[in-house]
Amino acid sequence: MKANTRFKKAIISSGPTREWIDPVRYISNASSGKMGFHIAKEILSWIPNVVYVHGNVSDKYANVEGAKNVYAETTIALRDAIVAELENDTLVIMAAAPADFRPIMIAENKIKKETTVGLMIELEKNPDILMALNASLKDKKYDSSVLIGFAAETEKLEEHALGKLERKGLKFIIGNYVGKSNTGFGEVDSSIRIFSKDGMIKEINNQPKEILAKGISDFLKEHA
Ligand code: PMT
Repeated sequence: MKANTRFKKAIISSGPTREWIDPVRYISNASSGKMGFHIAKEILSWIPNVVYVHGNVSDKYANVEGAKNVYAETTIALRDAIVAELENDTLVIMAAAPADFRPIMIAENKIKKETTVGLMIELEKNPDILMALNASLKDKKYDSSVLIGFAAETEKLEEHALGKLERKGLKFIIGNYVGKSNTGFGEVDSSIRIFSKDGMIKEINNQPKEILAKGISDFLKEHA
């Protein structure tokens, strides 16, 4: 099959976002940025205009050579940075792990443990970035742009991935298992499954993320 070179631009998101509780504490997750970084590097080989939008990733995953590198700290900042880059003929790959909730209030000063027995933090939902991007593409009639999501799950990978693909208006979703003991996040070998609305199309098992990223990029080059 002929390679797909119709995209003028790619936006790849990577890493965790941070939602501050007080000046010294925040809510986040264990994403290192490795997966998004290597996908962005691979995509550059066939889409020269790549925007790499990242949260607080490890230093070595903060700068993709040849790409426009953009830092976004919070989930709202990540959404705004991607929306600002959105055009027609754009391939968007959301490998980032945005925090789904943020504190309703950020304390101005460090919360002192001496002043309280326990601590209740009230959270509100963050916007879903892919849903916002889907709405924005429809609104602007950018019909030839494509959204690719990830599904990070601890159970029922296919079921949850297909639900997210449908709700978020994605062409493909890349499912992977995540968890505390060496699963999914950081410097580990991992496995991915790529789903369309009709089910699984491709899987790559137990490989370093460099190899997974190449497999994802090759797949998208042909099918996205
Ligand atoms: O960075 P690494 O250490 O290499 O780890 C890689 C990874 C595990 C973070 C990566 O492979 C991965 O799975 N990224 C997606 C993490 C995630 O947020 O998954 P989710 O199933 O919660 O979200 C589904 C999709 O919606 C994702 O594409 C996510 O980027 C997106 N999302 C999530 C929350 C939100 N508020 N808005 C979103 O658009």
